[in-house]
Amino acid sequence: MHTLYTIIDDIADNGKIDVMQLDALLKNNDREADGYLFFKAQKAADRIYKNKIYIRGLIEFTNHCKNDCYYCGIRRNNFCAQRYRLSKDEIISCTDEGYRLGFRTFVLQGGEDVFYDDDKICDIISEIKKNHSDCAVTLSIGEKSYASYKMYFDAGADRYLLRHETADREHYGKLHPAELSFENRIRCLYDLKEIGYQVGCGFMTGSPYQTTDTIYKDIRFICELKPHMLGIGPFIPHHDTPFADKSAGTAVITLRLIAIMRLLRPCMLIPATTALSTIDEEGAEKGILAGANVVMPNLSPKDVRGKYTLYDNKIHSGSEAAEHLCLLKKKFENIGYEIEISRGDYKDK
Ligand code: 5AD
Repeated sequence: MHTLYTIIDDIADNGKIDVMQLDALLKNNDREADGYLFFKAQKAADRIYKNKIYIRGLIEFTNHCKNDCYYCGIRRNNFCAQRYRLSKDEIISCTDEGYRLGFRTFVLQGGEDVFYDDDKICDIISEIKKNHSDCAVTLSIGEKSYASYKMYFDAGADRYLLRHETADREHYGKLHPAELSFENRIRCLYDLKEIGYQVGCGFMTGSPYQTTDTIYKDIRFICELKPHMLGIGPFIPHHDTPFADKSAGTAVITLRLIAIMRLLRPCMLIPATTALSTIDEEGAEKGILAGANVVMPNLSPKDVRGKYTLYDNKIHSGSEAAEHLCLLKKKFENIGYEIEISRGDYKDK
């Protein structure tokens, strides 16, 4: 009989997991086994990234979106959302402030907003790279054509985040309207890799209709795509969406999946997400202690932070705020970790 401990050792030693092992780990009620899983994952991260935590300054530059994802608070059919867009100058000021605070990676994230055409995006990227040539620019602006992705890359973008959301086609269809295609989303991720970006995919834990089987497909997909970054955070319902009444994901399942993915692909950059900190006050520390090695404090102008509400109660004024980096530093010092001031690129062993 396999105990949870032998399963964890097996995953750590062989970099592989089967669906039975995954099911056993997800359903377990043994806190000590969780402790062992998290400890092994933390050690795996330490072997490559030591006790360093990489920081990314997150600039949420538009909450307009042409898509209508059932889970998301900035979906186009949420008429209660207060919409905003940042100008190029406002975005550039955020990066200048971020640079002063010690950020060397800027993540430009937004809804799929047609206002920012390719020329505007390229102009913003090249301006940031001109002002701060020692910084990385990460884009997180959704599904685009190969040609657009290539233009952004040639303008200087280094990385791209596009969560795949779920690797199960049927599950994808339950989270999104029919006009959004699973195939296109996956096509985007492979295009981004081919162009040369450091690529991040990811999914929510506890999203409606998620099962052990869909999670197992996520894991297999991630092992095939081999992304450099992986975002995993709990689903949290937003009151003005079709999923308002669905239940939220949990911190413990999120932590287990962070740990499992760290063991399966030790080099990945894995953030302790804002969603995790939203459902658990100690989410940032717990994430790191379960194998995460990145945090993405919010660098958006303060007056728009409350409007980028993908889910209810999203935190935006505590230690996840870029201007309070010192609070985050303290939190991490208390658990033996240090924030690193660098681009924080992917390490290939
Ligand atoms: N709860 C948690 N995460 C969400 N996202 C969107 N809506 C929610 C929600 N209700 C995540 C999606 C998206 C990322 C930017 O935020 O996974 O890719």
